[in-house]
Amino acid sequence: MRTLILLWALWVPVAAFAQAPAPQAPQSPAPHPLPYLSKDKNLGVVNCANSLCHGSVTAWKDSNVLQTEYVTWSRVDKHANRAYQILLNERSQRIAKNLGLKEPAHEAKICVDCHGYAPPVEVRGERFKVSDGVSCEACHGPAERWIKSHTAPGATHAENVANGLYPTDDPVAQARLCLSCHFGNKDKFVNHRIMGAGHPRITFELETFTQTQPPHFVIDEDWQKRKRQWDPVRVWAIGQALAAAEILDVLLDPKRSKDGLFPELVVFDCHSCHHSMQDVRWTPRLGIGPGRIRLNDANLLMLKQIVRRTLPGDEKSYNELVSSLHKAVAGDGGDALEAARKLRAGLDVVMTKLSTRDFSNDDLRAILAGLIEDGLAGQYSDYAGAEQATMAMSSVMNFLAKRGELRTVGDANKALTRVYDTVKDDEKYKPQAFQAALADLRKTVSR
Ligand code: HEC
Ligand code: HEC
Ligand code: HEC
Ligand code: HEC
Repeated sequence: MRTLILLWALWVPVAAFAQAPAPQAPQSPAPHPLPYLSKDKNLGVVNCANSLCHGSVTAWKDSNVLQTEYVTWSRVDKHANRAYQILLNERSQRIAKNLGLKEPAHEAKICVDCHGYAPPVEVRGERFKVSDGVSCEACHGPAERWIKSHTAPGATHAENVANGLYPTDDPVAQARLCLSCHFGNKDKFVNHRIMGAGHPRITFELETFTQTQPPHFVIDEDWQKRKRQWDPVRVWAIGQALAAAEILDVLLDPKRSKDGLFPELVVFDCHSCHHSMQDVRWTPRLGIGPGRIRLNDANLLMLKQIVRRTLPGDEKSYNELVSSLHKAVAGDGGDALEAARKLRAGLDVVMTKLSTRDFSNDDLRAILAGLIEDGLAGQYSDYAGAEQATMAMSSVMNFLAKRGELRTVGDANKALTRVYDTVKDDEKYKPQAFQAALADLRKTVSR
């Protein structure tokens, strides 16, 4: 209840905040440092790869964990066999050249920070190699202090975390980790200049990407007993809140928010600029007139569903704040930074609330219905929103199906595949086709 009251205090008296300086976000305990910021030594993948450790070809019967993690990672996970390797290809070399980098891409810090694991030289052990790509320690943290203790009989997860293991099981910490590369943060970032040099647009959704990595872990009862209770919709919701927070942080960061006279374009909807002039796309959905660049609001649109279900008392003020942010950014009145700051502070509270939130079957059905309704009402006329909504519907439907709450799984799956087809190619996205597929999906999921 306490967080609810706090949120109320942060979001509701909008008029009062217009005069007073924005309050500090509530202080939560210092988060676990991201692996590349830790002072511990990194030992290198070779230390995990032994067939008696995580390099077994078959899962062990008498172990809590699969022991095949290295085999999965090295054979089928793009973090191992693609993330770094592509820096050697022609496209990457061209990006580096277009940017005027002194080093080739596979040696440039700006690239290897995300396409490999490049902690400071002082914390690289003898057998550590940047070219291993996004390695075990890039996600699980440098192993210096936990390598021995994590195999000791009776070692608990909490003890391992105290020894520097990164808490990948905590969805807030996991989201910070994944988004540090799958969006960027103040230390590493793909801005519009890098995109302009040829870098692809980056897509991310925490729950979907956790499922498709592919996972080298099984979240079963034993996992939950050792770690925490698992709720994929919570993971989705936290991923949305943190992704929205990252975008607002760019707007609020004087170093990252501008490029010459222009704002940093990466936080805007790519396709609001990148499309043919014959294809007039403006709709009144944001309350801002035509001919303006729109913020990429895909995550904010998803959060609308989450706030509605999780903090119903704050739904109205949340929607008003988002709307005032859009208007202020477009120059239709109000202070954009002020609106961004208020929204950002509210998101911290949402994240705290979500970290212990369980989603009931009614919540899932309401979120799914809300996504479909908003889609049919044209809220996802911009591609990024449609793309996020599709991944969200898929996560929610999967969870409903797992709980035995989806009656016609086969039909629902077919309808969902048709929705996916309409967002497969961002350059060919047609909002009408997306809406038609949604209308069919609605028929298969309404009870
Ligand atoms: C903030 C992290 C980040 C930085 C910095 C970054 N990238 Fe990327 N890059 C990514 C991610 C994440 C993807 C995957 C995008 C997707 O599929 O959604 C990617 C994709 C790519 C791809 C396409 C990969 C493929 O499989 O086809 C190329 C090429 C690339 N990056 C090159 C570079 C180069 C060269 C640099 C340095 C100038 C760089 N990147 C900097 C995160 C980053
Ligand atoms: C891109 C990030 C990432 C990389 C790279 C990665 N992991 Fe993981 N790993 C995760 C996540 C997320 C989980 C699931 C949450 C958890 O159990 O902590 C996980 C879980 C695990 C688990 C625990 C399973 C359980 O049941 O408790 C082990 C063991 C593991 N990983 C080993 C490895 C090894 C060994 C490597 C390298 C060969 C590796 N991981 C590479 C992200 C990663
Ligand atoms: C150190 C940076 C880094 C971290 C941390 C990281 N990734 Fe990645 N990830 C990448 C890069 C770079 C690629 C692109 C590889 C490529 O396609 O060339 C990638 C690719 C992926 C892909 C494949 C996407 C596709 O288009 O097929 C998935 C799924 C993924 N990451 C999930 C995750 C998840 C989940 C986490 C957090 C547990 C995570 N990643 C953490 C850098 C990172
Ligand atoms: C405010 C409008 C605007 C937004 C928003 C925008 N861009 Fe751009 N983009 C431009 C302009 C202008 C250029 C330069 C075009 C040229 O050189 O012909 C450009 C160039 C590019 C290029 C190189 C194209 C070329 O022909 O050289 C890529 C790739 C690109 N942008 C990707 C993106 C992505 C991805 C996003 C979203 C994350 C995005 N852009 C958002 C305006 C925008």
